[in-house]
Amino acid sequence: MKHYLQFSDFSADEYHYLFERAAAIKAKFKGYEKYHPLTDRTLAMIFEKASTRTRVSFEAGMYQLGGSVVHLTTEGSQLGRSEPIEDSAKVISRMVDLVMIRTFEQTKIEAFAANSRVPVINGLTNEFHPCQILADIFTFIERRGSIAGKTVAWVGDGNNMANTWLQAAELLDFRVHVSTPRGYEIDEKLAVGPRGTSAASYQFFSDPMDACRGADLVTTDVWTSMGFEAENEERRRAFADWCVDEDMMALARPDALFMHCLPAHRGEEVTAEVIDGPQSVVWDEAENRMHVQKALMEYLLLGRVA
Ligand code: CP
Ligand code: NVA
Repeated sequence: MKHYLQFSDFSADEYHYLFERAAAIKAKFKGYEKYHPLTDRTLAMIFEKASTRTRVSFEAGMYQLGGSVVHLTTEGSQLGRSEPIEDSAKVISRMVDLVMIRTFEQTKIEAFAANSRVPVINGLTNEFHPCQILADIFTFIERRGSIAGKTVAWVGDGNNMANTWLQAAELLDFRVHVSTPRGYEIDEKLAVGPRGTSAASYQFFSDPMDACRGADLVTTDVWTSMGFEAENEERRRAFADWCVDEDMMALARPDALFMHCLPAHRGEEVTAEVIDGPQSVVWDEAENRMHVQKALMEYLLLGRVA
């Protein structure tokens, strides 16, 4: 049994399989072809933080594969009344086939997985967001072919998305140019993949303009992630120069893409001209969450089928 708790849990070979599988599953969906390999299987989704895309993509995806879902929140379940995560894992995993969790510390999802009889998927923690990077790289491949050897510019917070990009770069052989304000740098211990993030895959720039120079993809995220709302005002001041605008995009390659995991704040981390402009692929990115997660759920429950 495998869990998917961080990007480095899978090998490059598994990712190549998943990207091909996601393309095949997406083609079935676009062709209105019924595909029900997960009939009678149930996914439990546990949300300790808000969500739009993660909920809709997992829920719709599971139904499309013939399965069903149970939706739990902290407030609506005994998790909000201090039932230990270990006990919750033992109970929930006796009744369902697969669990997706969105929570705070990575240690919480690890504790759940250690007590689960079924595979557990990370639907976002403070430290990582592997399903989103799976979708982002799939989106890049759809538009531009392989991501190997390419350069991704990360502009903004050294957060869960940034950590996951670094893990992916190491596994899939691309480079990440990171620019964060002082005090919001990536925690390099978290970003290290199984081989150890090499200098070749990760470079820090204090000026976000320099990070964008020559990039094949420019990407950013909210200045204040969920769980850090108390720092909102302080962050707005610190991040003022980390807004992806047309000047930054002009320094990237002419065919560079723009991505944002969403939700976005126009006028903060990105201008409306960029996110609503011709280089932006944010809507494909959001849709692709569903296709890659269908491939992921199929893989965790049935192994390789093609
Ligand atoms: N990108 C993402 O995970 O969106 P939600 O918070 O809406 O699930
Ligand atoms: N970094 C953001 C991503 C939201 C999908 C957060 O954790 O809130």
